[in-house]
Amino acid sequence: KNIHLTQYQGHWTSPQHIAAVMAFREHFESHSDDIILTTQPKSGTTWLKALTFTVTNRNLHDFDNHPLLKTNPHDLVPFLDIELYANGHIPDLTNLPSPRLFASHLPYNLLPTSMIKSDCRIIYLCRNPKDTFVSMWKFNNKFLPEDAPVPIQEAFELFYKGITPGGPFWEHVLGHWKASFKRPERVLFIKYEELKEDPTFHLRRLAEFLGYPFSLEEERRGIIEKIQRLCSFENLTSLDVNKSGNTRIGIKTENYFRRGVVGDWSKFEIAIDEQPRVKKWVFDKICQFWKNWKSKLKQTH
Ligand code: A3P
Repeated sequence: KNIHLTQYQGHWTSPQHIAAVMAFREHFESHSDDIILTTQPKSGTTWLKALTFTVTNRNLHDFDNHPLLKTNPHDLVPFLDIELYANGHIPDLTNLPSPRLFASHLPYNLLPTSMIKSDCRIIYLCRNPKDTFVSMWKFNNKFLPEDAPVPIQEAFELFYKGITPGGPFWEHVLGHWKASFKRPERVLFIKYEELKEDPTFHLRRLAEFLGYPFSLEEERRGIIEKIQRLCSFENLTSLDVNKSGNTRIGIKTENYFRRGVVGDWSKFEIAIDEQPRVKKWVFDKICQFWKNWKSKLKQTH
């Protein structure tokens, strides 16, 4: 009943993506001005795509006639590993306009060597595992009959063991976290929760990191706030383009937008009989997991 996953060099992914991952790793040739967004699924990839696209293209488009009003964020910033190299096909990416903007769910240690050796910039968005887990559970259940979701205990047990798309969770986070210390000019580490709390600060940080800092004139014209508003959950979910249709990889666009908040994990409903007992079991485990995470990050720092 679970979403079927397989492991490639320690990384859990869908079997249909293995050929793409291998072709991407072998054939991708990085340009020094490439921008690569790396995330685990359900960490806010859609949001990061919208923000980065808007920051880097802000001189090309008016906010009232912006591509994001007509195209979902996923189709503006393609995934390398699960989309462009799908089925092992080798795409011609040489003539894409510069800077090329791509996304990937691969962990840092599996990114193509050319990407690590080049001067391209990598932006990693990480999210509290509790919310990531709940978001993933809800997302995966969309592909199953409504009356037969994966039991939450089963899903959590797998997540906890690292068996989740993009997982193991910690390896993914820690690989990028360490890289952001080793190569701070090339790898930027952002947390979903902090981006939610202070989007202005993090948008400035992101723009500076990419070499597109906001000018005083732009600050005066309120460009940062405009980007924030355009890419906000509220705005994106109000657009027809995100309410219907599929992304290029064939997933309903609306499935990428659920609640878009921090801490939803504590409120979600569990559609199973013995709710209170299971809830306590799951929450205890998740809290333990979260605690371990904080101390792991501290040690690495
Ligand atoms: P929830 O399921 O908790 O609501 P991804 O894009 O990596 O698939 O992650 C999806 C998660 O990001 C979902 O979380 C979704 O609602 C949230 N999300 C999508 N767009 C967002 C935005 N503009 N701002 C904040 N969160 C957003």
